[in-house]
Amino acid sequence: MKAFDKIIGYVSLKQELMQISDTLKNPQFYDKLGVSAPRGLLLYGEPGVGKSLMASAVIEESGRPVFRCRKDEPNGDFVKKIKATFEKAAENAPSIVFLDDMDKFANGDEKHPDAEEYVTVQSCIDETKGKEVFVLATANDTDCLPDSLQRAGRFDRTIEVGLPMGEDAIEIVAYYLKSKRFVEGIDPVVIAKIMIGHSCADLETVINEAGLYAGYDRAESITMEHVLKACLHTVFDRTSARDEQDDFCSHLSDPHHIASHFIYHEAGHAVVSEVLCPGSVTLVFAGGLRQEEGGFTSYYRTPGMSLLDWRKTRIVAALGGAAAMEQKFGLPDIGCSSDLDHAFDKVRELLSDTCINGFSFYSRGYSESEHLKASLEQAVAAEVERYYRKAKEIISANREFFEKLAAALAEKKLLPAVDIEKIREGCKMVPVAL
Ligand SMILES: Nc1ncnc2c1ncn2[C@@H]1O[C@H](COP(=O)(O)OP(=O)(O)OP(=O)(O)O)[C@@H](O)[C@H]1O
Ligand SMILES: [Mg+2]
Repeated sequence: MKAFDKIIGYVSLKQELMQISDTLKNPQFYDKLGVSAPRGLLLYGEPGVGKSLMASAVIEESGRPVFRCRKDEPNGDFVKKIKATFEKAAENAPSIVFLDDMDKFANGDEKHPDAEEYVTVQSCIDETKGKEVFVLATANDTDCLPDSLQRAGRFDRTIEVGLPMGEDAIEIVAYYLKSKRFVEGIDPVVIAKIMIGHSCADLETVINEAGLYAGYDRAESITMEHVLKACLHTVFDRTSARDEQDDFCSHLSDPHHIASHFIYHEAGHAVVSEVLCPGSVTLVFAGGLRQEEGGFTSYYRTPGMSLLDWRKTRIVAALGGAAAMEQKFGLPDIGCSSDLDHAFDKVRELLSDTCINGFSFYSRGYSESEHLKASLEQAVAAEVERYYRKAKEIISANREFFEKLAAALAEKKLLPAVDIEKIREGCKMVPVAL
């Protein structure tokens, strides 16, 4: 397998990396044209998106010797190590210096763009100018790095590696499924949708964890149930073990009321999202009995839905949990502060970024204006109120769907998209315009 074949998806990014790698492997073609090849490449992005994998592919394909440097020594010794790495690379040029996780070079959690380590990297890069030493670095957070280090002439190319989306995520899931024994008919699209917003490392881990659950069950093949269990434990950090829940129950004064709180709350989120955008809920969980692990609903923007409509849908769906509690029990929902935070933040963004309620709320550059802040906050609260009424209207108009979804959730605790779709198709759906 060639080095770049290990990177699944990310086609255009891979193309760019192959081109950079070619400048390192075949400099004669570029020299002939009188152009100078890039001297450095910085790959940045969230953990687990494949930065180190991509850097390794560039290194391997280039055929050059590599001199690696990672933060693994106390500060003074580490600065010496950086210098020694560049010296060795210069002696062995043409070569590559690989600075993995460069944003961790300076100590502590604080950002230290002026730290000695970065000053050293910068001066080493400048000293090796003209010596055919290519500098390749990875980082999670470029804010930790000095701007001067990121400028052209040092890291000529700075490339963001994003989370795997759409086809990329599906291809990665399919790739990791291929090497394991799954039951027939497992659809990588379903898993990719559930895992939307998670890294390549998470996709790989979930599929492997599913296999571990299957092995423990002494199963012949891995099933979707194992995948869902792995998603819950590994990625969403929840447990669905009924025995544990029963333990929680025994310590609570009214466990059934608490359980139905989570069930109807999550059903509210899911129903609102499904009515506004059918097929948009990938997973609903309402299995825990503690506030921090009570439940969650995960969403997916279906193809064809405009970003503006999706932003509005997500706001109304966020308020669906509280709206459901009011509709079902006639009580305010005391456990929904994070939903309210989400709704207020997203409405604020919508009003100030898109000006859909008028240009007077356009706030970029005027964020210090007290008058603007006060009138914006008033408008945001009124808009959240309006979306909340919509959420209640949706649940009330689709009572059958709401009750059936809650009943299925009470029984199974965890509902994937296929189950939600079946329930939805068996109910009379009443559309509500926003
Ligand atoms: N495009 C991809 N195709 C297949 N597997 C991938 C892809 N990207 C990442 N992986 C897998 O995900 C795991 C994490 O990748 P990697 O270590 O390169 O991430 P990273 O971005 O460097 O993370 P960190 O910021 O934590 O260092 C690896 O096992 C890797 O094989
Ligand atoms: Mg890495």
